[in-house]
Amino acid sequence: MDGAAEIAIDQVRLEANSLLNPARKIELGQFMTPSRVARFMASLFSAGHGTVRLLDAGAGVGSLTAAFMERRADAPVHVTAYEIDESLAPYLRETLARYGNCCTGSSVIDRDFIQEAVYRIKLGTNEQCFSHAILNPPYKKIKSDSLHRALLRAVSLETVNLYTAFVGLAVELMRQDGEIVAIIPRSFCNGLYYKPFREWILGRAALEHIHLFHSRTSAFNDDEVLQENVIIKLVRGKKQGTVTITTSSDSSFSDLQSHVYPFEEIVHEDDAQKFIHVPTAPTHSGLDSVPLAERFLDEIGLAVSTGPVVDFRLKDFLRKRPEKGTVPLLYPAHFAGDSMEWPRESKKPNALLDHQETKKWLYPNGFYTVVRRFSSKEERRRIVAHVVDPRAFSGSAIGFENHLNVFHFEKKGIDRDIAYGLAMFLNSTAVDEYFRRFSGHTQVNATDLRLLRYPRLTELKQLGQWIQAVGHPAQEMIDRRIEGMCGKEK
Ligand SMILES: C[S@@+](CC[C@H](N)C(=O)[O-])C[C@H]1O[C@@H](n2cnc3c(N)ncnc32)[C@H](O)[C@@H]1O
Repeated sequence: MDGAAEIAIDQVRLEANSLLNPARKIELGQFMTPSRVARFMASLFSAGHGTVRLLDAGAGVGSLTAAFMERRADAPVHVTAYEIDESLAPYLRETLARYGNCCTGSSVIDRDFIQEAVYRIKLGTNEQCFSHAILNPPYKKIKSDSLHRALLRAVSLETVNLYTAFVGLAVELMRQDGEIVAIIPRSFCNGLYYKPFREWILGRAALEHIHLFHSRTSAFNDDEVLQENVIIKLVRGKKQGTVTITTSSDSSFSDLQSHVYPFEEIVHEDDAQKFIHVPTAPTHSGLDSVPLAERFLDEIGLAVSTGPVVDFRLKDFLRKRPEKGTVPLLYPAHFAGDSMEWPRESKKPNALLDHQETKKWLYPNGFYTVVRRFSSKEERRRIVAHVVDPRAFSGSAIGFENHLNVFHFEKKGIDRDIAYGLAMFLNSTAVDEYFRRFSGHTQVNATDLRLLRYPRLTELKQLGQWIQAVGHPAQEMIDRRIEGMCGKEK
């Protein structure tokens, strides 16, 4: 796209953006793609010949189609643009009109794409399948009793969000070798609810390219979109080959990096969940190359659970300070620094009444490793682990609040050295890098921690003894020690 066209499309987008009704904007997921991102997306299509039939579903003001047309300026393109919001139609038509010469027989359809696509698939009127699709679909949960859910079920697409519905249907509407480039949230890569969607796309198309933005706000900088986004390229019916992963800090793409990976590094062969890992650097320090971490948590006899105390359900039993008849109640706030601080003056309670009603939510006093479920964006690591030391408390039980994940042995405490070793292992850069590959969230859930691989108990014990002897080692020392354990010390 030349500079003038880019500025013009961005102006249309900003103008339309300012006119959008805020409630409708959320309702319809109207976050328009800036032209630089659109241009990058358009560059991912292979240079091909023959008739181009382009699908732009949820077209907004047509930024994506415009970027596509700029690259195909000399070839005839038939565009089908779906946009449910009729207030955007004039802008969309204006954008398409710019390419009047080459947009042969284009149609703007101001109806629901899901409904239209499902009818098309069900009625078999799919013979004019698309050769290309460029998508920035709306992001919104699909309610289980909604019409959208029923329509999607009719074509056996079980999915929970509009964005996966759009991409899933677009894949279905493609002809053999048809290419889809879509910018979508990263959540489909690992969420359990997205497993049918992952199976749907991987069963029908080759995953050729993933682009990851390092910063979560960068792709849509004039809208406050906090979702982490990826751009994916799928090719319908093509045999799966290697996957190109590119990364950039932001939508300027000025520090673009590109690496090619075997597909098995992106979707592990033995993974029934079909998680899509997005390596951010070649795997010299990732856990795949750390042989000591190859066991599932249950194989080493440990388990991890979400803290069972949901405070608003036990309001009457919460106490600001420890007092007679209470047990300690631990929140993430108690692990703000390097070590546990309890009791602590903060807005959160410090204790829970030991009562018939609360007993079932308590763990016996002991050593535990805990991981905060939510880290802040500023934090260097996503997984931040701490040790709960029972010597800080006098009672026989502990309450773990719901914003903590707790590692335990059959709902009881774990060996002290193992608790320290486990925390050290979880705080290593290798684990952090591994975790970032499959999770775009700052949120760390017990399910995620169950999917990690862990060292053997004897190894965790050694790590634990070492870190207790050393005190508070620097991150580099932790990392070197972890790598050193498997003879990989640099
Ligand atoms: C995330 S915006 C992207 C717009 C445009 N593709 C772009 O990249 O700038 C998604 C668009 O999909 C439209 N939309 C939402 N639900 C839709 C539906 N069921 N059918 C068709 N369009 C829909 C919204 O109005 C919105 O303009």
